[in-house]
Amino acid sequence: MFKGELIERIKILKEEKGILILAHYYVDGIIQELADFVGDSYYLSKIAKDRKENIILFCGVSFMGESAKILSPHKKVIVPTLDAKCPMAFMVNEEKVNEIKTNYDDLAVVCYINSTAEIKGFSDVCVTSSNAYNIVKNLKEKNIYFIPDNNLGRYLATKLPNKNFIFNEGYCPIHQNLKKDDILKVKEVHKNAEILVHPECKLEVLELASFIGSTSGIIDYATKSEGDEFIICTEMGILHELITKNPFKKFHSVIPEQICPDMKKITLEAVYNALNTLTPEILLEKHIEMKAVKSLEKMHELGR
Ligand code: 13P
Ligand code: SF4
Repeated sequence: MFKGELIERIKILKEEKGILILAHYYVDGIIQELADFVGDSYYLSKIAKDRKENIILFCGVSFMGESAKILSPHKKVIVPTLDAKCPMAFMVNEEKVNEIKTNYDDLAVVCYINSTAEIKGFSDVCVTSSNAYNIVKNLKEKNIYFIPDNNLGRYLATKLPNKNFIFNEGYCPIHQNLKKDDILKVKEVHKNAEILVHPECKLEVLELASFIGSTSGIIDYATKSEGDEFIICTEMGILHELITKNPFKKFHSVIPEQICPDMKKITLEAVYNALNTLTPEILLEKHIEMKAVKSLEKMHELGR
């Protein structure tokens, strides 16, 4: 099928079946345009929970669809492919969490939403990059075991010196790959550009930033800024919304590899097939779902 025909069929199927389509800023622009809502991880998880539609097509990596299912177990949550998985979500395990739990009193296990449903079940509260600071700041526990993302954990620790952070070794390969020297080389060419950084980047990169925030935070900042040139230190799917909102501003990448291969597995063909067959569906074991829901609900309660 040609691209135009696929798009028309997707629109028809979506309307006929009353399906809510959600998309993360890292999926291809063409998919973002077909979605009812596009956003960062927190916003999408809130929309998935609050909207009345009973079938959701989640265009993002698997933990996103899983979180929607966990928060609304009565809804049918489908994804374009079960193959799109965030590698960081698997970078911690139950054994490690239990070991830290036995070594520390007065401990909260804080889990970045980029994690498996199992890991969420061993955690006290979930966070995303847009609400992590406020949630962790207000926790009564002194010791914070932050999983799985080492970089976001270290960033929070710089902002919350009264907490004692224990870090995990996990990272996002795409953000980890962004290096201070490469950014400085781009800055050398575009001297007036502001540097906008996602907190999944390393501290050496965060230190260069004019602004640090989630994907939607970066878009808001660039849109409101009086500056007209920016160096983007995150996944480049974000460019679609940045350009749509700011057609006369300039956005520079740092390296060509600022692409999340898993997010790019969400293709038009996969979206069409999912809408047509209502598969693959996110199905979790009930005991995992019931354990994981507590940390996600706590995030929505504290993040309000
Ligand atoms: P946010 O959209 O919440 O900033 O998350 C980035 C991300 O890596 C999602 O996979
Ligand atoms: Fe995971 Fe990084 Fe891809 Fe986000 S960009 S889904 S954190 S691998």
